[in-house]
Amino acid sequence: MGLLSDRVAVITGAGRGIGRACALMFVREGCKVVINDVEEAPAKEARDACEKVAKDSAAFHVGSVANPSDTDTLMKTAADTFGKLDILVNNAGITRDKVTHLMTDEWWDLVIDVNLTGTFNCIRSTAPYMRDLAKKEIEQHGKPAYNRKIVNFFSTAAIRGNPGQVNYTAAKMGNIGITRTIAQEWGRFGINCNAVAPGFTNTRLTHAKKPGDELGVPEEQRQEMIKRIPLGRIGEPEDIAGAVLFFSSRLSDFITGQELNVSGGMQVP
Ligand SMILES: NC(=O)c1ccc[n+]([C@@H]2O[C@H](COP(=O)([O-])OP(=O)(O)OC[C@H]3O[C@@H](n4cnc5c(N)ncnc54)[C@H](O)[C@@H]3O)[C@@H](O)[C@H]2O)c1
Repeated sequence: MGLLSDRVAVITGAGRGIGRACALMFVREGCKVVINDVEEAPAKEARDACEKVAKDSAAFHVGSVANPSDTDTLMKTAADTFGKLDILVNNAGITRDKVTHLMTDEWWDLVIDVNLTGTFNCIRSTAPYMRDLAKKEIEQHGKPAYNRKIVNFFSTAAIRGNPGQVNYTAAKMGNIGITRTIAQEWGRFGINCNAVAPGFTNTRLTHAKKPGDELGVPEEQRQEMIKRIPLGRIGEPEDIAGAVLFFSSRLSDFITGQELNVSGGMQVP
C-alpha cells in the first residue's frame, strides 16, 4: 500500500519542475492526481508521464491559479474525474525580477496574483470538497473520515529577502500567513495546512540566465548560492517533492501550521 493510496490530489503548476516531480511521486504512492498548469503542452506531457507510471492515475486541467473561476473548475475536475478531493498542493509560481525602483506595476501584480492570490483562490475553491464535506462527516460520525491536506509554497529567498525580488518575496511570505490562518480555521475539520520552502532547486526558475531571459538567475549568483549549501549541491525537484509527500500523507496528521525549509541546510535567518 502506498503512502497516498485512495487519495485524490490537485497539484497546481505541475506541468514542469517541482510540481511535476510531486505528481510522479504521488502516483507512485497510489494517489490519483489532477495536474494543473497555465500551459497546455506541459500539463499534457506530465499527465502522460504519470499515466506511464500508473494507468488511470492522472488528469490535466489548463487554467490560471490567478483566476478564481479557473480554480473552481480545477477542483470540480478532481471531483468529477476521481470522485473527490483530499489534497491540494499550491505549487504554481513565477518570478519576474527587477530591483524595486524599476519594478513595474504589471510585474508586481502578475507575481502577486499567481504566487499569493493563486494560493488563496485554490484554497477557497476546495472548500465544498474538503471543508464542507469534513463538516458533514463530523455532524454524522463525530469526526472527519480522515485528514485532508493543503501544502503551500514559500521560499528561502523570501525569508532572507532577495534583491530584485520585492514582488516574489512579498508574495511568498504572504503564503506563510495564509498557512497559519488556514491551519487555525480548518484544523477542527481535520484539514492540515503546512508550507514548504524550496531552497535553490534545479528548475527553469534557476537556470543560468542569458541576456533577454525573463526567468533564471545570473551564473555568478548561481555559483554563490551553491557555495552556501552545506550539502554541497543544488536541490533537485524530487528533493522538494519528498517533503510535499510527507505533508500530504498520514505521516503528518498531527502537524499543521508549520513551515519547512528544504534547502540542503542553507541557513536563512
Ligand atoms: N526552483 C527554485 O529554486 C525555487 C525556490 C523557491 C521556491 N520555489 C517555488 O517552487 C514552486 C515551483 O517552482 P519551479 O521551480 O518548479 O518552477 P517551474 O517554472 O519549473 O514550474 C512552475 C510551473 O507553474 C506553471 N504556472 C505559472 N503560472 C501559473 C498559473 N498562473 N497557473 C497555473 N500554473 C502556472 C508554469 O507554467 C510551470 O509549469 C513555485 O511556487 C516557486 O516559486 C522554487
